[in-house]
Amino acid sequence: MKKVYLETFGCQMNVSDSERIASVLESDGFKMTVDENSADVILFNTCSVREKAEHKLYTRIGQIRKFVSGNPVVGVLGCVAQLEGETLFKKSEGIDFVLGTQAVGRVSKAIDNVFDGQKHYIDLGKREEDYDWTVAESQRHSPYVAFVPIIEGCNKFCTYCIVPFSRGREKSLPATDIIRHILELRHQGIREVHLIGQNVNSYRPIDNSGLEKFRGATAFSKLLRAVAQTGMERIKFATSFPRDFHTDIVEAINENENLCNWVHLPVQSGSSEVLRAMRRGHTVESYLKKVDTIRNSSRQLSLTTDIIVGFPGETKKNFQDTLKMVEYCRFDSSYIFKYSPRPGTPAFEIADNVTLDEKKERFIELDDLQKIIQQEIFKSYINRTVNVLVEKISVKDSSQYSGHSTCHKVVNFKGSKDFLGKVVEVKITEAKVNTLYGTV
Ligand code: 5AD
Ligand code: SF4
Repeated sequence: MKKVYLETFGCQMNVSDSERIASVLESDGFKMTVDENSADVILFNTCSVREKAEHKLYTRIGQIRKFVSGNPVVGVLGCVAQLEGETLFKKSEGIDFVLGTQAVGRVSKAIDNVFDGQKHYIDLGKREEDYDWTVAESQRHSPYVAFVPIIEGCNKFCTYCIVPFSRGREKSLPATDIIRHILELRHQGIREVHLIGQNVNSYRPIDNSGLEKFRGATAFSKLLRAVAQTGMERIKFATSFPRDFHTDIVEAINENENLCNWVHLPVQSGSSEVLRAMRRGHTVESYLKKVDTIRNSSRQLSLTTDIIVGFPGETKKNFQDTLKMVEYCRFDSSYIFKYSPRPGTPAFEIADNVTLDEKKERFIELDDLQKIIQQEIFKSYINRTVNVLVEKISVKDSSQYSGHSTCHKVVNFKGSKDFLGKVVEVKITEAKVNTLYGTV
């Protein structure tokens, strides 16, 4: 039995893809291993959203070729594979095969071909019509939480973003398949599902199942209501795209307790001028209107975001506007990134007049502000009780257990093994910037 080591970079869509890659491999007679030194095959499921993620791949391949004996087969999968294609073989001599984002279902065939002596095997082809989106129970990243893709690809073409090129056009999965998938997961003991996609609220299924009700601007909130009906205990979803975020989503959450009280809504900038240059399709004003709806909801919803600092042309004043926007929105958490030029995107062609030092300074200033706000928000949870799905034993201290609240905050507390996989009520006693602590 050939052993396969699989390393994953990037977003939850990649984590989800890797779960299915491993499922396919196991059903085709390969054995997954966490030890790269004993592997016959080493796979990298790659990310290209920022330069750093891409560099990591080349570093890792270099390390493998230098330190792993036995000359394993090396395959590059995912976003970098899709974008670079043939050129990857020139960029790194250590690569045996390349599989694009939609070709991952054919991973076993690629490995077999290389073992049969084929050099530089490449498949950047389309996904199979009958591609199986489910994951073998043995290959889930968690026994209690499951990712359910509902839409793949992206049509938005924000000027900085490589995703539309690496993952192709938006394609929604049929609602019937999604519902069936979630019912199966529930039956298997999964307690929380994350509906995932680059832009979940752009969900617009082609009607091939008589489900006309999933049409139009509220297709996603209708799907949410239908998913709530499956009885799955906790339902989360990410990522939402502001322009397509219909406020009916907030109503759906208010109507259904099992739709969790968390919205991830990337804003990217607090300056409408920069948003226009990013071609985001929303202004600061239109974003804030949606934030107001979320904040005025009858349930307290947690709101998180992504922000890019130092986009080409971003002035000091534009950046000040981002600080102001963050002060207004008071995000529960925020992923902040320094703009990273991606070849092939429209923004790559714009002269970048914001120096790296300036980007770093803006990053630190925004991060400091976010930390202050976040610490205040997290402290406001002290003496309150939150529902936590107990997911794992803490790596640092084995008497500490860890999970996420319905509002998607990490909560640590003292527990015992039989808590794993249960939903418990935790009274919060302490708050750090990124973590809550409490007692059951
Ligand atoms: N540079 C920096 N950050 C980027 N993101 C996407 N493309 C880039 C880029 N070129 C960020 C956005 C997006 C998140 C997933 O990654 O904030 O929401
Ligand atoms: Fe990138 Fe924009 Fe698509 Fe998000 S919506 S993945 S930021 S192009």
